[in-house]
Amino acid sequence: MSTVLVLNGPNLGRLGSREPDVYGSANLDDLYVYLSEAAPKGVSVDLRQTDDEAELIHWLYEAVDTGVPVIINPAAFTHYSYALRDAAALVTKAGLMLIEVHISNPHARETFRHTSVVSAIATGVIAGLGFDSYRLALDYVTRQG
Ligand code: DQA
Repeated sequence: MSTVLVLNGPNLGRLGSREPDVYGSANLDDLYVYLSEAAPKGVSVDLRQTDDEAELIHWLYEAVDTGVPVIINPAAFTHYSYALRDAAALVTKAGLMLIEVHISNPHARETFRHTSVVSAIATGVIAGLGFDSYRLALDYVTRQG
């Protein structure tokens, strides 16, 4: 694999200033640098963020069509978007990895965050470890080759 798609859902473009007590003070550019430096030689990180459900879904189609594994933080879509779940299922049904990640631990927060409609079709889920949730996902994905 030469590329890993790292997709981020709504409001994650505000990382750094959004609820720093929950999400920390680093922003998405910092995440990109962190992951790019952690990626093994020859693997590039394609990190994207959108507030738009349709755009996120189309990026998942792109992953299927190009055979690229996905690390995804679906943000609030995690909790209710069946459309996103169905698109994510296309990725894993195509035999590609899709790891659901969260910066915070949703299970330690409000009740509505305890449900993920994505987890059941994900290859795996990593939550609550800050940016290391993404990093561990990247380690796993790149170790599978
Ligand atoms: C989040 C957790 C979600 O509940 C929330 O809506 C987010 C971020 C996380 O990374 O901790 O936007 O996915």
